[in-house]
Amino acid sequence: MGKLRVGIAGLGTVGGGLLKLFADPRSRLNEKLELVAVSARDRSRDRGVDIGGYRWFDDPVELAAQRDIDVVVELIGGSDGPAKRAVETALQRGAHVVSANKALVAVHGLALAETSEASGGKLLFEAAVGGGVPMVKALKESVAGCRASAVAGILNGTCNYILTEMEASGRSFESVLADAQRLGYAEADPTMDVGGFDAAHKLTILSAIAFGTLPDFEHVRIEGVERVSLTDIRMAGKLGFRIKLVAKGALNDGAVEMHVRPALLAFDHPLASIGGSLNALVVDAEPAGQLTFIGRGAGAGPTASSVASDLIDLAEERAGHAFGRPLAQLSSAPRATPAERGRYYLRLMVADRPGVVAAISDRLAHEGISIESFLQMPAPEGPVVPIVLTTQTCARTAVEAAVSAMQALDVVVEAPYVMPVEVSGAHWGAA
Ligand SMILES: NC(=O)c1ccc[n+]([C@@H]2O[C@H](COP(=O)([O-])OP(=O)(O)OC[C@H]3O[C@@H](n4cnc5c(N)ncnc54)[C@H](OP(=O)(O)O)[C@@H]3O)[C@@H](O)[C@H]2O)c1
Repeated sequence: MGKLRVGIAGLGTVGGGLLKLFADPRSRLNEKLELVAVSARDRSRDRGVDIGGYRWFDDPVELAAQRDIDVVVELIGGSDGPAKRAVETALQRGAHVVSANKALVAVHGLALAETSEASGGKLLFEAAVGGGVPMVKALKESVAGCRASAVAGILNGTCNYILTEMEASGRSFESVLADAQRLGYAEADPTMDVGGFDAAHKLTILSAIAFGTLPDFEHVRIEGVERVSLTDIRMAGKLGFRIKLVAKGALNDGAVEMHVRPALLAFDHPLASIGGSLNALVVDAEPAGQLTFIGRGAGAGPTASSVASDLIDLAEERAGHAFGRPLAQLSSAPRATPAERGRYYLRLMVADRPGVVAAISDRLAHEGISIESFLQMPAPEGPVVPIVLTTQTCARTAVEAAVSAMQALDVVVEAPYVMPVEVSGAHWGAA
């Protein structure tokens, strides 16, 4: 068999990294693949590598339609628009597609996988989750013989960087985010990252593969990190926890529950020490046990290396099904009802008046919730003080009822902030 002919659509951060890999004589890519065509918006832009020898397309869909291109690498981004049209065009004619586009795969992955099965063109997306960390392959291949019961990860480097930096520097969320934007670590519009949507896209993909279920982005419960304050980080630290944006999918009695939200992790939790822009995934799968994967979750080099590994799989004819098994074998698992039990962290901003603590304790007791620990910050300037507490194991619904009763108290000056407490261990339910 001759070399597979590759076209790259999108020559930005990741596409530029891939161009460099193709230009590197030490890379194995050129042994079995040949880069023949590229596409981006601006032909005159310096890509750091001479692209004069490749056919140029202004339109990525036109590149994807070329019959002599065997593999289309989509590195444009966005769940719709030219990225989607290029991927559809390639798959429809039976060409293979490699993509780093988690939004596209999370939202349209099922339809694209159907097209892939119908035409025989493979759809691979290792780079869409975890940058350089082989999370998709780990689930598709390494634990293929196991029963995965839960996946939990730190899947968004921007959020993790912000939370790590807040803890280290004592600066506010807004200040760290502004710096991250200036340094290019965070997008000008950070909503996808700090709102939890990017992590939810990735969790959708990982859960489908781990549990053998249809990708189901619509049912990820998503909460971003915008409300995490320095007070939360400091108080959690005093109680022995670190706050992380955790993306977690769990299989409970055949039902899948997926959520992305800030959570308190005990210092000995495998995800608690993942700092800065690192990504990590913990998989619970029997009989393998608990596995942890850690590495750089973004950037040109790590992400391009995952694209390259998919390309080599294609060249060596070992590329499997998009979601690890034929679509007919993926089930539409019922969604778990949020009858969640665990320990919870509550932060209340209250008027500094006698009787406040008793009033709060009373609302908790009324819902049958016992307090595990309680902290009150010394009153700073002004009449409002934070009170933080963690509960013993109780129903989430009971916490919600207590919180709404607290909001009715005139001494509670803003909506209480609730986060779950996660513990380490074989079972991934909240503590
Ligand atoms: N950056 C990361 O670390 C990372 C990590 C994991 C996954 N990903 C994913 O990888 C994909 C690419 O990300 P990136 O960071 O490399 O993006 P990027 O730097 O913004 O690059 C996007 C590329 O697509 C081209 N493009 C945009 N719109 C186009 C259009 N309408 N027609 C033709 N070309 C178009 C741009 O052309 P011009 O260069 O001419 O403007 C640019 O080359 C996204 O799906 C992203 O989520 C990125």
